[in-house]
Amino acid sequence: MTGRFISLEGGEGVGKSTQLLALQAALAEGGIDCLTTREPGGSAGAEAIRTLLLDGDEGRWSIQSEALLFAAARADHVEKTIRPALTQGRWVLSDRFLDSSLAYQGGAGGLGLETVRTLHELGSQGFLPDRTLVLVLGGGNERARARDSAGSDRIGGRSADYHRQVDEAFRLIAQQEPERVRLVDASGTPAEVTQRLLDAIADLLP
Ligand code: TYD
Repeated sequence: MTGRFISLEGGEGVGKSTQLLALQAALAEGGIDCLTTREPGGSAGAEAIRTLLLDGDEGRWSIQSEALLFAAARADHVEKTIRPALTQGRWVLSDRFLDSSLAYQGGAGGLGLETVRTLHELGSQGFLPDRTLVLVLGGGNERARARDSAGSDRIGGRSADYHRQVDEAFRLIAQQEPERVRLVDASGTPAEVTQRLLDAIADLLP
């Protein structure tokens, strides 16, 4: 069996963590054993970088340093966790991947999408998911953010304007790469959302 690499993306509080587990369970029911992982993190080195990125004051890193740290964490994650699993024929499901850097650092952070793609080329040889599922809600995701703001970290705690730009960037990326990146409506019951996610990877299933 050929392993597939799927990433799950979205702004803050769109129900991503719940859906990651639900999608893993649905795939398991269909006989697909999926390794779940996350970013920033997913390997020992990348988990160490995660703490640097998410803890501390807003001014701890410049946007350039921040993007480089995400790219470094991702390079380690790809090399140590994702590629080895795919080589063994396993499916990999990642809670966030490159498109978070494109949206948060490239779009909202102002670095530009092309700069982030260049860093990814250097760090991970441009390695991309077979499919990227972006959970989206109407209204600039503000409803979801209001629910989520309590436990925010260095990046999650940024302004509503920043998060609106994250949302816009995800939509732009989906337009630029329609084959790989699919927007998935995150409204409705959790079961309805899970079904939409499954529909959006139906062509990849064995
Ligand atoms: P996390 O606690 O995993 O949040 P979430 O539940 O929203 O996924 O924190 C990850 C934070 O890091 C989140 O605010 C998104 C941000 N992030 C980036 O800014 N760039 C990236 O490349 C990645 C992977 C995450």
